[in-house]
Amino acid sequence: MTLDIGELYPKQKLFCKATNKYICYGGARGGGKSHVSRIKMSLLALNYPGIQILLLRRTLQELRENHVLQLQKLLKTNIPDKRIATYKESTKEFLFPNGSRIKLGYCDNENDVLQYQGQAYEVIVLEEATHFTEFQFQTLTESNRMSGNMKVKFNPRMYFTCNPGGVGHTWVKRLFIDKDYKETENPEDYIFIPSLVFENKYLMENDPAYVRTLENLPEDRKQAMLYGNWDVFDGQFFPEFRRSLHVIDPFELPKNWNRYIALDYGLDMFAVLFIALDTKGHAYVYNEIHKSNLIVSEARQVLKSIMRHYNYIHKYAPPDLWNRNRDTGKSTAEMFREGGIDLTKASNNRVAGWLAVKEWLKIYKTRNEQTGEPYEDSNLKIFSNCVNLIKYLPQLQHDEKNPNDVTTEPHEPTHITDALRYFCVSRTSRTHEIIDKEKTFNFDVEKNTHYVDYGEEIEII
Ligand SMILES: Nc1ncnc2c1ncn2[C@@H]1O[C@H](COP(=O)(O)OP(=O)(O)O)[C@@H](O)[C@H]1O
Ligand SMILES: [Mg+2]
Repeated sequence: MTLDIGELYPKQKLFCKATNKYICYGGARGGGKSHVSRIKMSLLALNYPGIQILLLRRTLQELRENHVLQLQKLLKTNIPDKRIATYKESTKEFLFPNGSRIKLGYCDNENDVLQYQGQAYEVIVLEEATHFTEFQFQTLTESNRMSGNMKVKFNPRMYFTCNPGGVGHTWVKRLFIDKDYKETENPEDYIFIPSLVFENKYLMENDPAYVRTLENLPEDRKQAMLYGNWDVFDGQFFPEFRRSLHVIDPFELPKNWNRYIALDYGLDMFAVLFIALDTKGHAYVYNEIHKSNLIVSEARQVLKSIMRHYNYIHKYAPPDLWNRNRDTGKSTAEMFREGGIDLTKASNNRVAGWLAVKEWLKIYKTRNEQTGEPYEDSNLKIFSNCVNLIKYLPQLQHDEKNPNDVTTEPHEPTHITDALRYFCVSRTSRTHEIIDKEKTFNFDVEKNTHYVDYGEEIEII
């Protein structure tokens, strides 16, 4: 009997070869993620006698439509009645003669995951991982251990396939895209393999209409589903934010550029942005402070140590910093002034403020002054060292009750982005020659810097 795995595409091969603890194959739809995960599970089951594999999707229907039939097809042979593994419908599992097992399950509700507590699977595959909550993922990691059925050594691992967007967008992005690890997490445990539909030869040849459907999606969804752009997802307040355009490498700022500061102060977070304006109306956010638990005098000190000898035209802050403290009779703004920092009151009209941020972030087509070549630009650029602003800006979501406002839950992304809002609402963005009203993103997949970033990781294998 032979298992016919057909031909695998290069990214699918990387997926199969990876041996990290957490392997994520993600990005665009149709890249061949589900296809290769079925193959990988079958190969593991055949190569490691006794291995216990759990494949999860969010709903039973998704499981049926996406895997049961396809796995049955993959695991049958050309000899009638002879199968590589038999499927038991009552328990939803594929049983291999060598004792290996692929168990299929789903987690419709948050707590459905608890049924796997206390169980042991050497391999867990989360299909469409961004549909799972962080709680579900965390609970499953506890079941990802040796089951005691195997006679050879194996390091338990989890596989994830996913598209951007969904309830699990943030945790998947943190672990695999932003790589922003906690102390307890080992960066080497994680690998991300980007998937693009254009790499799926089968689909490109047999179903070009599928790609056209993706091309016709609204811009945000198209960015997520066709190009696998993780900075864009449904409900995102700033879908215009594009890492490849808005984030730039730091450079030395010319002395004659005006500098500004915008800040938000609270004991939970002191968030500050340092911004320089060039002579053409571009703003460069070149530094940031993002620190919690600082009392006013400490915050003042931290700020001063970074301000050094530069002049700042304005230091914008929200109006509530002028509220008097009932006990001391002093306002936060007064306390900053006592430390030699004179703040300027910015408007706290949230809707107007966010619109102003949108104006600054807007992508427009303009022409190179010398060559006349058209290119895309934006008036706001962020130096890549401003990691918190870059991380939190794309996380802001619409407030369900007021779509023109940003939701304040979760709270963490709102501090540094509020600081940006105070700057943007205080200084209007200058209009540039826009040669094409229609926003067009000529997305060259080959040159997509979003992916070039991950080039190194792929080399590791
Ligand atoms: N290596 C391959 N050879 C042949 N067909 C493939 C291959 N990879 C994917 N496909 C087919 O392409 C289609 C889309 O793949 P799928 O795995 O469903 O994509 P995704 O899960 O990434 O959205 C499916 O019909 C699948 O069987
Ligand atoms: Mg799939």
